[in-house]
Amino acid sequence: MSPADGAAFRALGREAEVNVLLLGKGTVGGRLVALLAQNEASLRARTRVSLRLVGLVDRRRALFDEAGLKPAEAVARLQSRPLSPASPPDVRPLLARLQHLPAPVLVDCTAAEGMDALYAEAFHRGVHVVGANKKPLSAPSHVRDALEVLARDHGRAWHYETTVGASLPIIRTIQDLVRTGDRLERIEGAFSGTLGFLAHQLAAGVPLSKAVREARERGYTEPHPRDDLAGLDVARKALILAREAGVAVELSEIAVEPFVSGDLLTEEDPERFLSGLAALDAQFGAYVARLHSSQKGLRYLARIDVGGEGKARVRVGPVAVDADHPAMSLRGAEAMVAFFTARYREFPLVVRGVGAGGEITAAGVLADVLRVAEGAFACR
Ligand SMILES: NC(=O)c1ccc[n+]([C@@H]2O[C@H](COP(=O)([O-])OP(=O)(O)OC[C@H]3O[C@@H](n4cnc5c(N)ncnc54)[C@H](OP(=O)(O)O)[C@@H]3O)[C@@H](O)[C@H]2O)c1
Repeated sequence: MSPADGAAFRALGREAEVNVLLLGKGTVGGRLVALLAQNEASLRARTRVSLRLVGLVDRRRALFDEAGLKPAEAVARLQSRPLSPASPPDVRPLLARLQHLPAPVLVDCTAAEGMDALYAEAFHRGVHVVGANKKPLSAPSHVRDALEVLARDHGRAWHYETTVGASLPIIRTIQDLVRTGDRLERIEGAFSGTLGFLAHQLAAGVPLSKAVREARERGYTEPHPRDDLAGLDVARKALILAREAGVAVELSEIAVEPFVSGDLLTEEDPERFLSGLAALDAQFGAYVARLHSSQKGLRYLARIDVGGEGKARVRVGPVAVDADHPAMSLRGAEAMVAFFTARYREFPLVVRGVGAGGEITAAGVLADVLRVAEGAFACR
């Protein structure tokens, strides 16, 4: 516990104060702010944590107030701020202010590239990190591992449960298996609630382009839906899990077969990408109907085979599965991860449930922040 954390604890008696700087106010970040606004009093009563939002940043503006922001007003206050000189705003000066507050936490609800440098700065300054952003975890091994070492050396928490399966307890499960001495042999499943939702819509006869728009409206897709349809989002999740299982693997080593293929995957503009999908509607409809007539269904699956010497073979791609395949029983945006281990060899340990959506992901991020609070004040 840092001196600032200790002082906060003494000042508050039995209540712990946590100070959050939130990056992103989109589907997940926006729901997190709403969750804080709706549950301020009950959260405090239930968890004995006084969770203060002190900063909010998006791609164009930044707001920081040591005195705390009222969650219900934070987004409007941010939007009334002048545009920052840089886009995205430079968050480092805010970290320098955040570090002086008790139990400071940087919460990353963006999908931005390059956040690893910011996380490193946060750990150096004694700031904990909670992230829903997969990119720092799927960076080259030396970058990701260096962050883990930094967090450990500075005694800071780094939680990222929501990067795989929204708020399903997947990362925690694998970490518990590993630290209690189990050996992971195979991990497989349908890691993407978004692609599961699309597969269902297609099976119900909804055209691909319409199904993707609906998934986006429901807050299931990545900021650019191409990341989902190219298989990149699932590949990143598989990479995160493989690394948690202790294997050395890079994103470039994963065999990825996209959900849709072709030139459209090079389209940078999300709106043009969505419009372009209409050209694939007939082809997808015919394919899914053919599968249906042979009692099969389309699912996007991932498989990690853990070999010897810390190596793994990782594959993600669309598969035509039989009606009795476990992934065929998934409903809506459900995801599923099955762990085959030395202890769970005959029947796997399975985690299953809705694996996408702003509200549940925001709840998972909040749970991670509360976990930081528990850790920071554990020595009281
Ligand atoms: N949606 C889900 O179901 C789900 C589930 C699990 C994990 N996640 C992860 O959660 C993260 C956020 O997803 P989302 O659906 O909320 O995306 P989103 O709706 O596009 O929101 C992204 C937010 O990040 C802000 N932003 C982008 N770059 C930034 C930067 N460099 N600095 C500060 N703010 C920046 C954006 O600012 P503007 O408002 O100015 O655009 C926006 O507010 C992603 O990494 C995603 O993979 C999402």
